[in-house]
Order: sequence, then C-alpha cells, then structure tokens
Amino acid sequence: MKRQRSAHPRGRGLAMLALGFLGGRLLARTGANGSNGADGADAPAHHSRRIVHNAGEAIIAADDSSRIVLANPAAARMFGVAVHEMEGSPLARFIRAPHAMDARPLEYFQADGRAGRRGTDYAGTGLRAGGEPFAIEGSIVDTRQNGSTVYTIILRDVSERQRVQRKLARSHDQLRQLSSALQTIREEERTHIARELHDDLGQLLASLRMDLSLLTDACGGTPEALRLIGGMDGNLLTAITSLRRIATNLRPRALDEGGLYFALQGLRDDFVERHGIDCDLLADENELRLDDQASTAIFRIVQEALTNIARHAHATRVTMNLYRLNGELLVTIRDDGRGIREADMEKAESLGLVGMRERVWALNGEITIGADEAPGTRIDIVLPVKDHTV
Ligand SMILES: Nc1ncnc2c1ncn2[C@@H]1O[C@H](COP(=O)(O)OP(=O)(O)OP(=O)(O)O)[C@@H](O)[C@H]1O
Ligand SMILES: [Mg+2]
Repeated sequence: MKRQRSAHPRGRGLAMLALGFLGGRLLARTGANGSNGADGADAPAHHSRRIVHNAGEAIIAADDSSRIVLANPAAARMFGVAVHEMEGSPLARFIRAPHAMDARPLEYFQADGRAGRRGTDYAGTGLRAGGEPFAIEGSIVDTRQNGSTVYTIILRDVSERQRVQRKLARSHDQLRQLSSALQTIREEERTHIARELHDDLGQLLASLRMDLSLLTDACGGTPEALRLIGGMDGNLLTAITSLRRIATNLRPRALDEGGLYFALQGLRDDFVERHGIDCDLLADENELRLDDQASTAIFRIVQEALTNIARHAHATRVTMNLYRLNGELLVTIRDDGRGIREADMEKAESLGLVGMRERVWALNGEITIGADEAPGTRIDIVLPVKDHTV
C-alpha cells in the first residue's frame, strides 16, 4: 500500500470522506469547535459518516500508534467481527504486523510490497476473526488531524482473485507442458516414420531395382519386355525419389547424422530451389553442435519462418544469422518482404508463430517478432544453449 496523494480517485474520494467524518467526530469528542456535534458545523461530518457507513468498500482509519479509530460495516464484515470490536483495537489484530516494534499503519503494508494490479496498490495480509490470514490490497491516505496523523485505509479482500490467478497460472503451466510433450511426441513419431520409410521401404525399392536389372540381363529380353522393364525401372526411381522427399520432410536425416548446420543448409537449399528467393545462411558449424532438443527446436523454428516467408512475405531476399555469444545462441531471420503487422500476430486461427514462441520458451529463451527497421520482417531469438552443447 502506498501514500496516495494523487492516487485512484474513487479510493481517495472515499478516504477523504472518511477523514471528513473522522475529523468531525474527533472535534465533536474533544469539543474543540465548542459544539456537541449536532449543529450546522458538523453537518458535512454527518454526511460523510453516512457515506462511509454505507460504502461497499472496507474502510478503516488508524492513528499514529496503529490503533483503529474508525471502521465501517464493510470492514467489519471482511474481518468477520462487529464494528465496535474493531474500533479501539490494535491494527495488528486485523492486519499482520511488521517485525518492527511500534510500526506505524503505513508499515503494515509496505513489507508485502506492491500488489501489481495498479501501480498505486499495495499488498498486505489480513487476519480474520479466527486468526486465518487472507490477502488484502488497498490504498492508504495519511492526514494531520489536530496535531496527530490519521491513516485512512481502503481495503480489498483479494484472496479469491489470487486463488483464481493461481489456478489460471497452474492450468497455463499444464497447457504449456502438454504442448511441449505433444511436440516431442510428434517429433519422435516423425523420426520413427522417416526412419522406417527410409530403411525398410527405401531398401526394398532399391533391391527391386537391382533385381530388375538382373532380370534384364537374365532374360535377354524382347524389345517389348525391355520397354516394360525400362518403364518399371523409371517408376521405381520416381518412387525412391518421392520416398526420400517425404522422409526428409518428416525429419531430415542431416539433423540426426550431420547436425543442425547441415540440416539448415538443406533447408536453405530447398527453399531457394522451390521458391526462387535468395537466402543466406550465416553460421559456423562448430557453434551449432547442439543436442537433439535444441537442434530440433531451432530447425523447426527456422522451417516455420521460411514457410511463412514463402507464403506471406513477397520477399526477394532472406538472411539467417546464427551465432554464439556468452553461452547464448542468437538467431536472426530477416526478410525484405511486406512486413508483419501487429494484427497478423493475433490471428486466432494461425498457429505457426504460436508454435515458434512455445519452442523458444520451452528452452527458456526469448523471441521478438516484428517489422524490421528496413522493409520486411525480423525475428530475433536468444537461446541459452550452454546446457545443450555437445
Ligand atoms: N515473414 C512474414 N512476412 C509477412 N507476414 C508474415 C510473415 N510471417 C507471418 N506473417 C503473417 O503472420 C500471420 C501469422 O503467421 P503464422 O505462421 O502464425 O500463421 P499462418 O502462417 O497464417 O498459418 P499456420 O498456422 O499454417 O502457420 C500470417 O498469416 C501472416 O499474415
Ligand atoms: Mg505459418
């Protein structure tokens, strides 16, 4: 909680009313204005009292010695007591006291720090009638009254909100773990299918081709038979090429055999050949010797970035820059296309950028996607790879 000299207008307004009421009451009690509190001079205090009494927000006021001098029914309800049980009691009975002896009301809140919802909200810990602690948050206004300071505190019970926030954060965490587990499973399945295709089906097709060539030699062959065998061989060759392409699309062998650098080179070459867009890969092979988790993540990120460029950017040139600096891998992918807009990144149906971010966050990295200062789009990624180096 914080002194709110220019804070949240509603809270401050209520606090000032409470102070108005309190001032009137103190004056009436001490007889300082020579009245019994019933004449016209006490009318604003009477008005303030009604508003504070009926306010939905919990309001208490405490003096310099942290004794409660005023509490409204909403405050009493929040703590599970009656108003008269609060008034006159030490603040420490209702709000967890700081360690310092003789703490002033302000210090009851400052220990827990800022509450975060608004810059001016501060957190504290309330204590219900049975001693059960609960999270509170609010605003404090201190004012001088007849030579002493009075602290008016507007309180909110935020325990329910915090419970919901914790639940939300937990479910967000679980979703993240689920998404990461699904990515891993998908990658493992792709690797498995690619291997089966390559090793089983690929081998089979290759041996069929060899048999076919033996058959040609063995049978001597009529021109008709030779024409048929030639056609079959052509089809087998097409099947082998398709199979290699499908297996590579599923999972490039280079990723498992050569390493990330060669896998990225393959990706770049394929991109240039298919789309006719210039693409530079600036990287050092030695800096890209990473374990499977990091290599796969970076490969898939770059693959999605290139797919996006081919589909959306209308670019003529792409530069991919990967280099190590102090245990981090810095990846920059830039294109000179139409540039990405804020709204593009919010498309509900688009999952490419979301997947990219998830992969980066799973490795505790950071990613920035935005329009480059030059025309085009720029993606910057920083990945801590110290523990992923092989
Ligand atoms: N390099 C780029 N240049 C310009 N616009 C881009 C670029 N990359 C992405 N975008 C825009 O951002 C949007 C979101 O991209 P994202 O990869 O998340 O989804 P997508 O490519 O549309 O679909 P998918 O889910 O199949 O990847 C795209 O629809 C496109 O409008
Ligand atoms: Mg995409």
